[in-house]
Amino acid sequence: MTLLVTGGAGFIGSNFVLDWLAAPETRGEPVVDLDALTYAGNLANLASLQGDARHVFVQGEIGDRALVDRLLATHRPRAIVHFAAESHVDRSIHGPGAFIETNVEGTFTLLEAARAYWAKLEGDAKSAFRFLHVSTDEVYGSLAPGAPAFTEDHPYEPNSPYAASKAASDHLVRAWHHTYGLPVVTTNCSNNYGPYQFPEKLIPLMIVNALAGKPLPVYGDGMQVRDWLYVGDHCAAIRTVLARGRLGETYNIGGWNEKPNREIVQTLCALLDELRPDPAGPYARLVRSVADRPGHDRRYAIDARKIERELGWRPAETFASGIRKTVRWYLDHTDWTAQVQSGAYRDWVATNYAAR
Ligand code: NAD
Ligand code: DAU
Repeated sequence: MTLLVTGGAGFIGSNFVLDWLAAPETRGEPVVDLDALTYAGNLANLASLQGDARHVFVQGEIGDRALVDRLLATHRPRAIVHFAAESHVDRSIHGPGAFIETNVEGTFTLLEAARAYWAKLEGDAKSAFRFLHVSTDEVYGSLAPGAPAFTEDHPYEPNSPYAASKAASDHLVRAWHHTYGLPVVTTNCSNNYGPYQFPEKLIPLMIVNALAGKPLPVYGDGMQVRDWLYVGDHCAAIRTVLARGRLGETYNIGGWNEKPNREIVQTLCALLDELRPDPAGPYARLVRSVADRPGHDRRYAIDARKIERELGWRPAETFASGIRKTVRWYLDHTDWTAQVQSGAYRDWVATNYAAR
């Protein structure tokens, strides 16, 4: 009994692997972790697993068919949990090619490898096999104020190159089930936050900038709404869907925590004022309005009733408890943030923010 996890050195993937190996219900089932270690992948996220035989790390691309075939043949996993992706909307605006390559073509290669492997399984191994595709609420597009939250039946209306590439991958996964019978389940989750999130995304970017006394760049009017979920709750939801999700179904995952970006930034400033006061004054003095993101989606909100009704999952963390934990984690792991803010990171910050 082994899981093949892709993207397990990234933000959510590494949280998933750590939680999986610690969760009593998974009984220490081993994980083979395939990750290309792009700028977003970091073995330091998995440092606590060094020497743990239950975690086998393999550096490589999901688009490398020979490698994926070899991993499947060698480790005989009972499931693939597919996180690997290019994940940052702003990067997809500056350079969409990598998003098509990994999110669309890479997912296609993984599906084909999974199909060939699954076709040769027999009996219980065949019926128990799962391909769990981790996706996003961004495939549904943008909601008007007051419109009902996204259900699983909401039309696909992706607006950014990132969202379009994830929507394409969702469609491939659906088709591989419908046409070939591959036993797939897809999850569409809202914005995650928590430990090990790369500081290109809103919450960690604001924390590391504030601590460095740098501007806190709020896009446009800052009234765009996101629906925030603590990463540990997302990992628990994925474990639940893997265990009990119905084949061919999609499950929306969210925390019922809609908040405008400005409120998120104010909350972070207030927590930092409390936990690490700056002698120069309140952190809110650093907030700046900057040019908006092109095509910026105004509002996301997840209706998570299906996963609760069918599978009994609900988030354990409130936003207040999750965001406090997260700020504390970044305060306690300044070595981690210093390490990930490499030259390449500084180049990205210059590319994305210099002209705003
Ligand atoms: P991330 O960018 O932090 O991590 C992505 C990981 O994938 C990295 O470790 C990277 O090295 C690896 N990777 C990239 N290209 C690869 C390739 N070609 N082959 C193998 N590995 C490769 O992303 P994340 O925020 O952890 O997101 C993980 C998944 O969850 C993605 O599929 C994303 O679309 C989805 N998702 C993210 C969020 C969120 O808020 N972050 C919300 C919903 C869904
Ligand atoms: O909704 C799920 C998605 O959430 C995931 O699929 C993506 O992988 C993940 O990156 C995230 O996408 P967003 O674009 O919503 O996340 P991001 O953290 O980049 O931005 C959150 C909001 O904050 C968004 O409205 C843009 C805004 N923002 C972001 C940055 C980086 C700012 O105002 N300033 C910033 O500097």
